[in-house]
Amino acid sequence: MVRNTWALLFLCFVLAQECLCDQWSSLTEDTALGIWSQRDVMSNITIDQVPVVGLDLGTSIFSGAVNNSNELMLLEKVLDSGVQAFIIDLTFNNSTNRWDVANTTHSLHTFVNVLERYLIRTNTNIHVNMWVLLLRFPEGAPTTADEHGQVAMLENELGGIGSFIYEVSDLRRENNVGSNVTTLSVGQLNWPTLHDFLYVRKKRVVVMLQDQELGNQTNRIFGSSVLHFTSGNSTAVCPFTTQSDLINQSGHSWRFLHADYETRGIKEYLRCGYSPIIRNRYNSGNISQLVPIIGAATYWSWDNHLPYLHEEDTQKGKPYAAHRCTLFRYNASSQSGSWVIADCNQKRPYICKSETSPYEWFKADQAGNHSTYFELGRFAPCPSNHTFSLPETPLQQRSLEKYLSDNSSPDIELWIDLNSVQILNCWVTGGPDTLCPYHKKPLGTFTEMMVPACILFAVFMVIIITLDLIRVPIQDNRRSWKRVINNYSKSETDGIPS
Ligand SMILES: *[C@@H]1O[C@H](CO)[C@@H](O)[C@H](O)[C@H]1NC(C)=O
Ligand SMILES: *[C@@H]1O[C@H](CO)[C@@H](O)[C@H](O)[C@H]1NC(C)=O
Ligand SMILES: *[C@@H]1O[C@H](CO)[C@@H](O)[C@H](O)[C@H]1NC(C)=O
Ligand SMILES: *[C@@H]1O[C@H](CO)[C@@H](O)[C@H](O)[C@H]1NC(C)=O
Ligand SMILES: *[C@@H]1O[C@H](CO)[C@@H](O)[C@H](O)[C@H]1NC(C)=O
Ligand SMILES: *[C@@H]1O[C@H](CO)[C@@H](O)[C@H](O)[C@H]1NC(C)=O
Ligand SMILES: *[C@@H]1O[C@H](CO)[C@@H](O)[C@H](O)[C@H]1NC(C)=O
Ligand SMILES: *[C@@H]1O[C@H](CO)[C@@H](O)[C@H](O)[C@H]1NC(C)=O
Ligand SMILES: *[C@@H]1O[C@H](CO)[C@@H](O)[C@H](O)[C@H]1NC(C)=O
Ligand SMILES: *[C@@H]1O[C@H](CO)[C@@H](O)[C@H](O)[C@H]1NC(C)=O
Ligand SMILES: *[C@@H]1O[C@H](CO)[C@@H](O)[C@H](O)[C@H]1NC(C)=O
Ligand SMILES: *[C@@H]1O[C@H](CO)[C@@H](O)[C@H](O)[C@H]1NC(C)=O
Repeated sequence: MVRNTWALLFLCFVLAQECLCDQWSSLTEDTALGIWSQRDVMSNITIDQVPVVGLDLGTSIFSGAVNNSNELMLLEKVLDSGVQAFIIDLTFNNSTNRWDVANTTHSLHTFVNVLERYLIRTNTNIHVNMWVLLLRFPEGAPTTADEHGQVAMLENELGGIGSFIYEVSDLRRENNVGSNVTTLSVGQLNWPTLHDFLYVRKKRVVVMLQDQELGNQTNRIFGSSVLHFTSGNSTAVCPFTTQSDLINQSGHSWRFLHADYETRGIKEYLRCGYSPIIRNRYNSGNISQLVPIIGAATYWSWDNHLPYLHEEDTQKGKPYAAHRCTLFRYNASSQSGSWVIADCNQKRPYICKSETSPYEWFKADQAGNHSTYFELGRFAPCPSNHTFSLPETPLQQRSLEKYLSDNSSPDIELWIDLNSVQILNCWVTGGPDTLCPYHKKPLGTFTEMMVPACILFAVFMVIIITLDLIRVPIQDNRRSWKRVINNYSKSETDGIPS
């Protein structure tokens, strides 16, 4: 009996290897690859400092809303467009006794359902991302007293995405703040890093009130005291003139700038550390004009040349690993720079970052410092308390540009610590030997794995689970599949150049 089970298990393993095909190279979503690489670079950044692009639903999808099915279809498209924050207006409907999306016939419940489907669909190691929902009450805002139980109902109606929401109690626990402190205020709070938020706590959503507090009676919804919300550009200071301005900006959590944007301008606000929330007026007829504006704001790192590498772009058949390193290309006349892909064997100067302040840089550009990425990834000489590194946020990138312009740097290309040597299109820091966090063969969702070759595998797994030989919590596929597969597979690597 046990012997048979092991035979089955072996077969499952063989089938699993076959169906977990190399999805990095087969993806057609070039932009998604860029967004994922940015997300991975921001792993160690706390979520309140992670930039997102937002959309005011009241002025766009739900403006002058008449056609129900149309709006929900638009909403689904926008969810996949690179936007990661929404402002949503809610009103309480006395006759139905529920929360509705203001000026529409949609209930909050319907909205949450659409979001829930999206979150489930994208809840894989590769697709996962963070969302921010900002709630606003144009009329009849609920009060802390909550005489009519409206606040409780609001919390309740978020239940569909409840397991994805990072709750107030999570933050209180993290910061040792008891529930007797009713107003969580900025400056004293430590938020989790993006990596912990997504992959350890397995959360996806932070819900906040845009401009009010509801005291300690909400657990799924943060009061506005934790965020820095600016409407219009009257108080926004950008660009920064000194480095301490930059550091001052980084001391503010959740910096949103709610304004009208155009394609050119929006990136500048992103570079200055704001999460832009687009409030331009659109209706269903012209909302497609929003796409390039959103597109311009989803990137702060890569050049227009996206980081997507096609196998056929490189050398015959086999992608040439030694071409997948990253340079920071600085343009002196625009005093700005962006990331480009380069041949790792080129000798170039490089950049060191202070370990104590992520806004202090050192450019190693003496003739003797020119090195290949392979030399640097293993050992890069830097001044004390500095290491070979890369900008991890738009503000850090801005501080690097500022450092270079303050030093009157000419146009220059500098190595930064980012490569895709081990796995095509999986960008990692830490030198050329770093493995892809998603493993050699990225794991899809449970459903993605249900391609024909895998059905047998799944059936066997079910049998094994029924036999109770391995305990696999199926619902939680983001953790358990990776662990189960990792237990059996060796992380072989392709083409490490010597
Ligand atoms: C995040 O921190 C860990 C541990 O210090 C380090 O190994 C990893 O390379 C860092 N990731 C990034 C993207 O900087
Ligand atoms: C709802 O519609 C009215 C009239 O069209 C408008 O004045 C109001 O601003 C809208 N409310 C929201 C939240 O969009
Ligand atoms: C609503 O939108 C759907 C899908 O776009 C369309 O087929 C239908 O004709 C629209 N109805 C009205 C009244 O505009
Ligand atoms: C409340 O909901 C009902 C049913 O959906 C709708 O007919 C009514 O117009 C809504 N009332 C308000 C004030 O929105
Ligand atoms: C809704 O009902 C509550 C009491 O049940 C009342 O105080 C409030 O004024 C009503 N709001 C509207 C818009 O009718
Ligand atoms: C909320 O705070 C009040 C004091 O402001 C306290 O009496 C009450 O117990 C708290 N509620 C919860 C659920 O902690
Ligand atoms: C909240 O309660 C904790 C004990 O649970 C206590 O140490 C702390 O002083 C209290 N804080 C306030 C502001 O009352
Ligand atoms: C900022 O204000 C200026 C004039 O005060 C205006 O021309 C510009 O469009 C505004 N920009 C945004 C993003 O609101
Ligand atoms: C940050 O800037 C604001 C406004 O410009 C100023 O009031 C505040 O004192 C500054 N904070 C620090 C730490 O410099
Ligand atoms: C979209 O159309 C609406 C209504 O015609 C108009 O008010 C709005 O200005 C248009 N938006 C853009 C960006 O053209
Ligand atoms: C540098 O920036 C300037 C101004 O934006 C632009 O005209 C020029 O083409 C850029 N140079 C390079 C090499 O991209
Ligand atoms: C390096 O950092 C350590 C502690 O973090 C500090 O004691 C030392 O003075 C720093 N060295 C330099 C050269 O800044």
